[in-house]
Amino acid sequence: MLKINIAVLVSGSGTNLQALIDASKAGTLKNGEIKTVISSKETAYALQRAKDNGIKAYCVPKRDFPDQQAFERRLIEILKSEGAELIVLAGFTIILSPYFINEYRDRIINIHPSLIPAFCGEGFYGLKVHQAALERGVKVTGATVHFVNEIPDGGKIILQRAVNVKDNDTPEILQRRVMMKAEWRILPKACEMVCKQLLKEKVRD
Ligand code: GRF
Repeated sequence: MLKINIAVLVSGSGTNLQALIDASKAGTLKNGEIKTVISSKETAYALQRAKDNGIKAYCVPKRDFPDQQAFERRLIEILKSEGAELIVLAGFTIILSPYFINEYRDRIINIHPSLIPAFCGEGFYGLKVHQAALERGVKVTGATVHFVNEIPDGGKIILQRAVNVKDNDTPEILQRRVMMKAEWRILPKACEMVCKQLLKEKVRD
């Protein structure tokens, strides 16, 4: 069966990558195949998850390059050599420049741990997102999968899922609930939706 070649970019523990791998195994992610994982950190547990599942993994730390463009040139070189057609940012902590985005226009998706447009954009990453949500006192938060464009967290929304905030939540507790109840569910689902659409276009062309 013809599938979309997926590359997943990570920097951390890779639980979202795991959700994609699990969906692949379960057959719910069926129009795409995860062929490549690229981590911006050597210590990312996501690299181990890739290895455990026989997925080709690369480690590309940004500090090994003189500037952002040289770093992105290397990413693009790998992605081209692997034939990647869809790039999934799953906990990738580096903001990509227009140079990279242009190369994969409408083919990059990202998971963000809030209901965009709340608590998003530059500076809102990791626990900071949940801290901000708790400080503002929202009763509902969640996660969003969206296309990536030049505006951080500003691209077209693909899927969202809401999660309740509870009275005694800490940022850590809320982060975990958002991951379990929203991120790990909507990322594989959105990925399948986009792969299905890309495959349709591929077959038509
Ligand atoms: C997730 O909360 C994701 O939304 C954010 O970074 C975290 C990554 O976690 N962008 P993991 O590496 O997938 O476990």
